[in-house]
Amino acid sequence: MGGYLPDVIIDQVRSGNDIVSIISDYVSLKKQGRNYVGLCPFHHEKTPSFMVSQDKQIFRCFGCGEGGNVITFVMKRESLSFPEAVRMLAQKAGISIPEEAGQEQSEKLKELERSYKLNELVKDFYHYILLNHQTAKEARQYLSSRGITPQTVERFQLGYAPLKWDSLLEFLKKKGHSPVSLEKLGLVLPRTKGRPGYYDRFRNRVMFPVFTAQGKVAGFGGRVLDESIPKYLNSPETMVFNKGNLLYGLNRAIDGIRSADQVIIVEGYLDVISCHQAGVTNVVASLGTALTRDQGKLLSRYTREVVMAYDADTAGVKATLKGWQLLDDLGCKVKVVNIPDGKDPDDFIQKHGSDEFLELINKKALSLWEYQTDRAMEKFDIYTLEGKFKIASEVIPNIRNLSNEIEKDEAIIKLARRLQLSPEAIRAEVEKNAHNARNSWSNRDKITDLRDNNNNHFAPKVVSNQDKDARSKAEDVLLAMMLDDKSVFLTVKEKIGIIFSESREYLNIIGLLNEMAEKGIDYQPAALFDRTEDQDTLALLGKMMSWEVPAENKLKVMEDCLKTIREDENRKKREELLRLMEEADRNRDQELRNRLLMEYSRLL
Ligand code: UTP
Ligand code: MN
Repeated sequence: MGGYLPDVIIDQVRSGNDIVSIISDYVSLKKQGRNYVGLCPFHHEKTPSFMVSQDKQIFRCFGCGEGGNVITFVMKRESLSFPEAVRMLAQKAGISIPEEAGQEQSEKLKELERSYKLNELVKDFYHYILLNHQTAKEARQYLSSRGITPQTVERFQLGYAPLKWDSLLEFLKKKGHSPVSLEKLGLVLPRTKGRPGYYDRFRNRVMFPVFTAQGKVAGFGGRVLDESIPKYLNSPETMVFNKGNLLYGLNRAIDGIRSADQVIIVEGYLDVISCHQAGVTNVVASLGTALTRDQGKLLSRYTREVVMAYDADTAGVKATLKGWQLLDDLGCKVKVVNIPDGKDPDDFIQKHGSDEFLELINKKALSLWEYQTDRAMEKFDIYTLEGKFKIASEVIPNIRNLSNEIEKDEAIIKLARRLQLSPEAIRAEVEKNAHNARNSWSNRDKITDLRDNNNNHFAPKVVSNQDKDARSKAEDVLLAMMLDDKSVFLTVKEKIGIIFSESREYLNIIGLLNEMAEKGIDYQPAALFDRTEDQDTLALLGKMMSWEVPAENKLKVMEDCLKTIREDENRKKREELLRLMEEADRNRDQELRNRLLMEYSRLL
């Protein structure tokens, strides 16, 4: 989405267009205090709830919640893409954007097409050799020893690169292709010794062409026929081969993914191939590396139900957890299967067949917290109190994040059972810090309002809830002030650091502010609307930036917020210690209890 517009240009365009004058072209605005108000152009209304702030260069509608900066406004109002909106505003402000001239653009497209065509030819060459050539006998045997049928070879267009330094080179020379164009695609390499010239990159390897979703050949992976290393050699990054944007098998998996409304992600070429051969066709591989955001986005076009079936080794576990987070952020529902005996999906299918594999996928897939419990139980000693706490503290944050209450309850009971702790203890821990109201702003407003009413008319009922509200209110106020004033940001950062909230959206915003402050860029929070695509973060940003921040007594307000947060942290630590002490009592661990008590009294 307009990734090729450099940030400097975007910033220039944004600051070159005053939001009040741009919006005035669409909405009749009246000055009211420091801001301008008018009828919202995004929903039907009779009394104005649409606000534009000239100081902050943002707009927000208190009726429908739309908000953003000048670029966002034009995008929404004119239904333009981000780069289109930037171009339109650039024109208005007389800023020239270094355009890739139409001529160059189409040159580039042509070169892309040529690259894909050449790769196609190379794929056909390797495929032909595998099927017909005497020198490929061993490769054919290897594939059949791995249970791969001729139909599968055909379906995936597998090939063989002969054990020679120049077979591809010679073949393509005859077809009139220069070594330079082959070098650009990573198919040949320049010789470093002896006479000048080139040599084939892939030799004596079974070749796996990697296709784009549209079925174009982007690059290759080549596997040795024995146990030598490197086991796989891949095309280097080229004009058409960006590993992070491609998923192996996707071109053949799209139908399967759509009809199952589910995708299974595996690690390797052969995992994909075995699954498809066994009739499980909704399978793709992330090409051996951890899943990238681009790959995640690509997948989420087809489905949001994802099952990860990575290898059970430590690298696989790491890749699983990372990919999980990323898919979750993209709004996918993710589950994980743990393939028994530390095997990969290929091994499993070859041994047990597709029915058992599908059973694994559909009946034994784990949610994140279950998977993490398993991993944590391998790491820590479940028979000691300390081990139990460590496991619990790794897993509980994810249980806390479950949005389904029934699922959450089930998770609490199951974890308690596995750790042999009481469900109440786990539940207390899960509910602690639960800023769940955060997820829904309207909800939260109600909570704050209620609290204020309570303050006026009744004595507070539950002290700890009261604290929780005070805490989140303090976080709100701090964030709004940080968005208003760089010096507040710097002070907060110095005093309590930038991770003072547990909300992902808060942390996103504070992280972006920090980047802006650190890079020494002009401190313009309105720019943050262009720096993230996360909808929840954008909504929070719109809301926070439209708050009126107290102009007087700023320092005092800030200090109060900091104090509230510090006290709440302290309270949480004490609660945690109390709970640990209870546990220690139950386990008759006098020594641990004494240690905890000392720590507790230090906090008072
Ligand atoms: P694995 O080592 O798990 O291999 O790597 P595999 O796919 O199970 O292959 P077999 O069964 O041993 O033949 C998983 C993936 O990581 C990438 C490849 O995409 C591979 O399929 N990889 C692995 C490389 O790119 N280079 C390597 O040297 C190894
Ligand atoms: Mn394997």
